[in-house]
Amino acid sequence: MAIKIVSVVGARPNFMKVAAVCEAIKAHSRLPMAIPIDHMLVHTGQHYDTNMSDFFFNDLDLPKPNLFLGVGSGSHSLQTAKVMEGFENVLLAERPDIVLVVGDVNSTLACALVTKKTWCTGVKGAPPFIPKLAHVEAGLRSFDRTMPEEVNRIVTDSIADYLFTTEESANRNLEREGIPRDKIHFVGNVMIDTLLRHRSKALESTILSDLRLIENGQLKPYAILTLHRPANVDDRRTFAKILEALVAVSRHMPIIFPVHPRTLKQIQEADLGDFFVDHFLDAPVHCDFGVRIRLVPPLGYLDFLNLTSQARVVLTDSGGVQEETTILGVPCITLRENTERPVTLKSGTNVLAGVDPNKIIAEITRVLEGARPATEAPKLWDGQAAKRIVQILLTESVSKPCWDVAHSTDTATDKVQTV
Ligand code: UD1
Ligand code: UDP
Repeated sequence: MAIKIVSVVGARPNFMKVAAVCEAIKAHSRLPMAIPIDHMLVHTGQHYDTNMSDFFFNDLDLPKPNLFLGVGSGSHSLQTAKVMEGFENVLLAERPDIVLVVGDVNSTLACALVTKKTWCTGVKGAPPFIPKLAHVEAGLRSFDRTMPEEVNRIVTDSIADYLFTTEESANRNLEREGIPRDKIHFVGNVMIDTLLRHRSKALESTILSDLRLIENGQLKPYAILTLHRPANVDDRRTFAKILEALVAVSRHMPIIFPVHPRTLKQIQEADLGDFFVDHFLDAPVHCDFGVRIRLVPPLGYLDFLNLTSQARVVLTDSGGVQEETTILGVPCITLRENTERPVTLKSGTNVLAGVDPNKIIAEITRVLEGARPATEAPKLWDGQAAKRIVQILLTESVSKPCWDVAHSTDTATDKVQTV
């Protein structure tokens, strides 16, 4: 009998992660005598703009979602509730053995909660059962509970059956929280699976010449900026402070800023437009690009990967970008006080600069004056993470099908006493 897996995507960073899982399932299905996997993709619609969603289906060869819930934007509660309502219907109709969620966005939390509270009807007289929940990228912690993602991570991990981790700090965090060790699987990083698979294809992107970063065949040094954390962009004073530091840097080197829709909205509402030149919309013909930050729309995966790979420095508050620069060996300055991905500080190029303008400028100067830092790939960031995930899910499903354990009282506290 086939094992039925429903994977969930909702927001931009989910697409790269689930793309790796789809690839691994496809590869598994080509094996002779493979246990069949019936895989469904559900898109919640948390992100919906063409350049926040559709682009990635093309760039990453993601299959078209089987179901689209179309929840859109809203407050945290509204968005979470809408995903829950839509996803409950999916579970009741589809009765999957396993639901796979990735990362830490509201769609992750919402689908995790629904999965562990829904009794699905068993087929052919089998008892009702609760699907198993797999969380990919489990255990990361910023230890800052004002971050919405931190709440999403903690709650999702506390109810997941399979916790797939990317780095050793995550294993320690989960053990400290009382998650039984047999639920924790250190598999590596699916985001890096996707990066390694698309790296050479990204070189075909024409983004560098489109943005006039290549002149007479010569690549100009440039920086990339991404910013979308509410703590950085929703408060005008904090956002303006960061921009003042960066605009000073832009006098010496162009800063390309693919702007997230949350951030664009804030730039417009908080009247911060003077810091930028809008490359696509209002750049005057002879505009001096050297004195302001260059806004561009959110980019597709391949364009962004090409741009990142060749940047002199990346300035970001993104989680995924900290990991990608670690593998690309490109200096990364994180505009946050903390990171839930400490391996990028230890093995990669990442440094934390916070939001103090002096610190930001000092870190950028240090990077520009220094040689490229030496990096080593974190353990298991080798392109095989999704393959490990699929193998573990298959082995576990065959040895412990969910209808056998539907009535067990398998809580973290029950188990931790016996570890
Ligand atoms: C979400 C995630 C964050 C992740 C980020 C990746 C949560 C709590 N946050 O933040 O962890 O790092 O995605 O990009 O889940 N908007 C559009 N078009 C879109 C999507 C959003 O215009 O396609 C605008 C809307 O005004 C919306 C705002 O962006 O209100 C914020 O979107 P939302 O999904 O709520 O949070 P993000 O800031 O994108
Ligand atoms: N990314 C992209 N285009 C952009 C900016 C980012 O394709 O214009 C990719 C980036 O390479 C990474 C992912 O989006 O794979 C990170 O998503 P995001 O920063 O939105 O979310 P986070 O990782 O912070 O949750």
